[in-house]
Amino acid sequence: MEKPVQVGLLGCGTVGSGVLSILQANAERIAARAGALIEVRRVAVRDLKKYRTVSLDEALLTTDPWEVVSDPSVDIVIEVMGGVDPARDLIAAAVDNGKPVITANKEVLAKHGPELLSLAARRGVDLFFEGSVAGGIPIIKPLRESLAANRVQAIVGIINGTTNYVLTRMSREGMPFAEVLREAQALGYAEADPASDVEGYDAAFKIAILASLAFETPVRVEDVYCEGITRITPEDIRYGRELGYEIKLLAIAREHEGRLEVRVHPAFIPAAHPLAAVTDVFNAIFVRGDAVGELMFYGRGAGSLPTGSAVVADLVDAVRRLRFGGNGRLQPPAAQLPIKPIEETVSRYYVSLKVVDRPGVLAKIAAAFGENDVSIDSVIQKGRLEDPVDLVFVTHEVQEANIRRALAQISRLPVVRQVSNVIRVEAEV
Ligand code: NAP
Ligand code: HSE
Repeated sequence: MEKPVQVGLLGCGTVGSGVLSILQANAERIAARAGALIEVRRVAVRDLKKYRTVSLDEALLTTDPWEVVSDPSVDIVIEVMGGVDPARDLIAAAVDNGKPVITANKEVLAKHGPELLSLAARRGVDLFFEGSVAGGIPIIKPLRESLAANRVQAIVGIINGTTNYVLTRMSREGMPFAEVLREAQALGYAEADPASDVEGYDAAFKIAILASLAFETPVRVEDVYCEGITRITPEDIRYGRELGYEIKLLAIAREHEGRLEVRVHPAFIPAAHPLAAVTDVFNAIFVRGDAVGELMFYGRGAGSLPTGSAVVADLVDAVRRLRFGGNGRLQPPAAQLPIKPIEETVSRYYVSLKVVDRPGVLAKIAAAFGENDVSIDSVIQKGRLEDPVDLVFVTHEVQEANIRRALAQISRLPVVRQVSNVIRVEAEV
């Protein structure tokens, strides 16, 4: 074999240590597959004194990531630091220095992916990012390569492990949101600022990356309609189950009549749908292509070794291309499918209200729905002669703008104490 390929690692936290563990544990197998030995040359961290879970020669450590990206002896850079600043500039500098880059950083890709891909294509170096979406699940490469023959029609995913864990525990144990979130944080699933998970931003970054790739349109984070799970109550989950649904935080990207819907929000899905069986911290991505039909990718969407597995697979690819060549680099998305505003999307809706339990109340609410062209599929009342009682509706398919108008009217009715929740029902994902 020729001389080893030298890797510069930016970050040695959860993912970085997974990468190092895998490179150590499977060194020979990886070298055989890559066609070259791989050595870690430099490792940038913030704190030199911090305890590391992986064995590491301290002489490799530096607190200056710029030193790593400009080191002429570093052939390939792996960025697993996180955040935008300075990660974006470091990736750009490495690429500019002719070094292929592998990153698991969804935020930097969702915010600056097209410009970084343009730079990499101009410089003729690889920029790989399998670990950025759904941890260990291969989804970027299937979209880039294995499904290249298809026109992708829809992607529907559970791509945030923390929220899936929280919703699973709320469903199984009836536990309140705040209590399960504390548990998820203690187990190390949630981001340092759990708002990124529970408000849906993490899933929004990921679906922006997938949608840009699958629909060849630059989807910005601001294009993604985003609702988190903080308003979901154990009662909603219970009522949904009685109606035959499970609740999930879905990330959806779908082409419809020449426009693109890209959204993240909690949704009820039929209990028999394969995505309903995806529980705990697991992720799954459902893809529909015009030739291949429906596919589902399932596995661990986060964690040190699963994400490390995706990063090292990219590394093997990059080493092969460095050693043996390979034409064609991923171009930034060029098409311009317009994004459909959320008000124009069509869905079914679960609506839960607190109302006065009196004859005629249902008729008043049904009239408000009817005046806004909202057709009701089912209704259940919970409680009797209490004040107030829960009234739960599921609508037929309706445009979001109509349901919003209907609910504005319903919330003004004196018999309605509160519109408790509105959750989309995705009957056909
Ligand atoms: P992490 O545990 O917080 O590790 C970040 C690492 O980067 C740490 O080693 C830290 O140094 C180092 N670092 C941060 N800023 C630095 C700076 N300015 N200069 C030098 N070193 C710096 O994060 P992580 O969970 O591994 O995540 C890394 C990336 O992978 C993120 O983009 C994340 O979104 C993505 N990702 C994570 C997962 C997951 O399961 N965790 C899954 C998929 C993708 P110290 O160790 O000294 O603090
Ligand atoms: N906090 C993220 C999740 C980590 O829960 O899925 C992986 O991106």
